Amino acid sequence: MQEHILIIGNGGREYAIGRVLKEDNRVKTLYFAPGNGATHLLGTNLTYAYPQELLESITFHHITLVIIGPEAPLGEGLSDYLRSHNVRVFAPSKAAARLETSKAFMKDFVSAAHIPTARYMQSSDFQTLCAFIDTLTPPIVIKADGLCAGKGVIIAQSYEEAKQTTQDMLSGTAFGEAGKCVVVEEFLEGYELSVFAICDGEDFVMLPACQDHKRLLTGDKGPNTGGMGAYTPTPLCDENLMRKIRQNIIAPTLQAMKKQGTPFEGVLFGGIMVVKKNNELEPYLLEFNVRFGDPECEVLMPLLQTPLLDIITYTIERRIRELKCIFKEQYAVAVVASSKDYPYVSSASVPIRIQAFDERLGHIVYAGVSSDSQGGLLASGGRVLLAVGIASSIQQARNNAYEILKSVSFEGMHFREDIAYRALAL
Ligand code: AMP
Ligand code: GLY
Repeated sequence: MQEHILIIGNGGREYAIGRVLKEDNRVKTLYFAPGNGATHLLGTNLTYAYPQELLESITFHHITLVIIGPEAPLGEGLSDYLRSHNVRVFAPSKAAARLETSKAFMKDFVSAAHIPTARYMQSSDFQTLCAFIDTLTPPIVIKADGLCAGKGVIIAQSYEEAKQTTQDMLSGTAFGEAGKCVVVEEFLEGYELSVFAICDGEDFVMLPACQDHKRLLTGDKGPNTGGMGAYTPTPLCDENLMRKIRQNIIAPTLQAMKKQGTPFEGVLFGGIMVVKKNNELEPYLLEFNVRFGDPECEVLMPLLQTPLLDIITYTIERRIRELKCIFKEQYAVAVVASSKDYPYVSSASVPIRIQAFDERLGHIVYAGVSSDSQGGLLASGGRVLLAVGIASSIQQARNNAYEILKSVSFEGMHFREDIAYRALAL
């Protein structure tokens, strides 16, 4: 079957998905909505008013498959809307997306399913939360219930700060409506992994574990961001740990979601904290996302040996168990180049200069970019682009990524110098 595929989103994640689909000779045309200033190099950018005009556009262009990249349209129920109009969609329903869109729902769900997670209390009542805060030892983690673009989590260093943060969230001054219900939880000490299960409602396949780098600055300093770089696979997740993640976290989640009538179809992304207990590594679930991670997607896509289109088709046909998902025996390291004032405020658009580089090193993925009237590339978003190094070792993949970055420049360009440091320190 010839596919006409529409990818919803405008980030590096969507560019990376489009990049591998473009190489598949079953993909006849590729569209992005809205796309970014570089996705037109892979396909056609569509502008639309949401969601009726989008549906009209899908019919007009004979689109055979829609892939939804970011969480916001999932929370708004775009996949249900499209499915109700007989559009093939690779994404979870609005009800299943609550695993990401409501932290309070997620915490109640996972503890009912006996999935290991930090001890917590969720409430809209200040006194109730204060009483729980007093039972914990700082640092104490305070989370706004709703979607906050990765910024709704505060690690408070004292009881006073924990209570003040809770009050600011509840009163709506910190995160508006998203903070009207607050989750307080114990702080888990360990290292983080991003794991991805492609789920068809019943079964799943796991992709290699990744590590993201959430803080802005080298050495894990500075504020949290959407992610400043990632690599995969990681030696920090061996077969034994992956088995525990599969058995203790992903499988019971799928089972419980199915049981409550909201089967999970699509990408289930577990933010895992690996905690050392009695000399054993134990995975705890910090959060679920219901889509590919960004920048994790940018390192997973180029390593796929099994075509992404097969993974998606088998998922939609509910026979993912029949698919053997194979990855290249290589490593990928992605380093984000961000704009001057990211993540605080948006910076004015500035031109990007890119010199030729040896394409055997890897490639560039474009994210927060737009084009000027002459077709030149402008840095216009927070995370502007990613240099993705590919090689047969993490060290070499990392070196390749930084080598590619030497060919890129724009005013105010910032990047971390230590992506993949945990793996390289082993
Ligand atoms: P979340 O959006 O829930 O993934 O939280 C954002 C970041 O806050 C995570 O990636 C962790 O680095 C940190 N975090 C969240 N919850 C905890 C916890 N219970 N213990 C330690 N760190 C946490
Ligand atoms: N890289 C983390 C995220 O996509 O939420």
